[in-house]
Formats: sequence, structure tokens, C-alpha cells
Amino acid sequence: MINEILPPWVASAESFGDAPEDSLFPEERPLIARAVDRRRREFVTGRHCARLALGRIGVPPGPIPRGERGAPVWPAGVVGSITHCAGYRAAAVASADEARAVGIDAETHAPLPAEVLPTVASPGEIAALRALDDADAKICWDRILFSAKESVYKVWFPLTRRWLDFSEAVVDIDASGSFSARLLAGDPALGTRVLSGRWVVSDGLIATSIALPRP
Ligand SMILES: CC(C)(COP(=O)(O)OP(=O)(O)OC[C@H]1O[C@@H](n2cnc3c(N)ncnc32)[C@H](O)[C@@H]1OP(=O)(O)O)[C@@H](O)C(=O)NCCC(=O)NCCS
Repeated sequence: MINEILPPWVASAESFGDAPEDSLFPEERPLIARAVDRRRREFVTGRHCARLALGRIGVPPGPIPRGERGAPVWPAGVVGSITHCAGYRAAAVASADEARAVGIDAETHAPLPAEVLPTVASPGEIAALRALDDADAKICWDRILFSAKESVYKVWFPLTRRWLDFSEAVVDIDASGSFSARLLAGDPALGTRVLSGRWVVSDGLIATSIALPRP
């Protein structure tokens, strides 16, 4: 699913099941030593997918530590992103020669809880979601918007090392499978105020992606 929404210069791997825990590197084991079973499984399989994806760009298997604010620490010369949700795990990586950042996010294809929507979307975004819903009520547009903003953060943070609030990106979803995110917060490290992404809905899941090419 995830490869459908990534450009050819981004390698990816995904899993609908879980990898064995002994696939972790010794350096990674302390990161989940006290975690509950669900968290252990998503972490292990996220790392497993990451190593598969890295192998596809010729990077040998190695540990992927957890860095500042939870961001994965990729091998030198690589950018990438990991996501997991119930029944799905994925990773996407690219050479830093080709990409400045990659962000991916997966979610269960279900409506956001009503109380969550106003905390992640502006009144203007909510109005746009209603119009999309009028055109196709089978798609959970609010969940796509949420996922798109998570992908925005996964591109934003590794470049800027700064928090970005949900109100600081305005996401405009195109029903044909793309979206744009206009950033109200600027940062020279990002070098742009508009991020272009893609989305897909398949088998009860939503995935979004943003791949920021190196100019
Ligand atoms: C970090 C965050 C984006 C993760 O998204 P999520 O939907 O909760 O969870 P996902 O399973 O999709 O992604 C988790 C993975 O994201 C990665 N991640 C965590 N923090 C990260 C960060 N600061 N930067 C980049 N990637 C990060 C990790 O690889 C993590 O998996 P791991 O802990 O097993 O390595 C989310 O929890 C969060 O903090 N969001 C608030 C910030 C935000 O989205 N702002 C909106 C801007 S418009």
C-alpha cells in the first residue's frame, strides 16, 4: 500500500503481521524494555520494515536508535520515516542525496472521534471536509486530514527540531489522492512553506506520505 503513494526514489517496506522480537539489535532492546506488548510489537516490526527498506537502497542492517522527541536516528546519508497502526506497520527511506525528508503515516480508516476534529482542524478545514464528504461519504476525510498532518510533522521535525502545532499547517485534500499542506510557521531549515503529499485508502487503512526532494 505505502509504495503506491511514494516516488520511485523512496524505498519502502510494510507488514500486516509482526516480526520476531529477536530481530532487534541489542542497542534497540532497552528502548522497549518496559513497554507493553502492543508497543513492543509495533516497535519491533517498524524497525524490521525499516531495515528491509534500507536494504533496498543498499544500506546494510544496523540499529536504528530513538533520537530527540522520538524521531528515529537513520544511518548517515539516509532520511526516512516509520509508522504503525492496528494491523499495519511501514517504513520509507531515501538517500539524503535525493531527499531532504520523508514522512509517512498510517491510520485505521475510521472517522476521528467528534471531540478530536476541532483540535486538529480549523473551521476552514472542517468546511472543506464537509464538501469532500458530500462528494464521497464512504471516505473518512477527517482521518485523512489527521494523517496528513502527522506526515507533515514527520517531515518538519527532523529538519527543524521544533514542535509544530496542528493549527500551524493548513491541509487541502484533493479527492484524487493528493494533498497540500501550507505551513503558517516558517523555518529556514525546511526551505519551503508548502509540502505536497499523497494519500491512499485500502482494506480498512489510510496511509499518507510526503517526500521532499532535494532541489
Ligand atoms: C510523533 C507523531 C507524529 C507520531 O505519529 P502517530 O500517528 O502517533 O504514530 P505513528 O505510528 O504513525 O508513528 C510513530 C513513529 O513516528 C516516529 N516519530 C516519533 N517521533 C517523531 C518525530 N519527532 N519526528 C519524526 N518521526 C517521529 C517514530 O519512528 C515512531 O515509531 P517508533 O517509536 O516505533 O520508532 C505523533 O505522535 C505526534 O506527536 N503528533 C503531534 C505533532 C503533530 O502531529 N503536529 C501536527 C503538525 S501539522
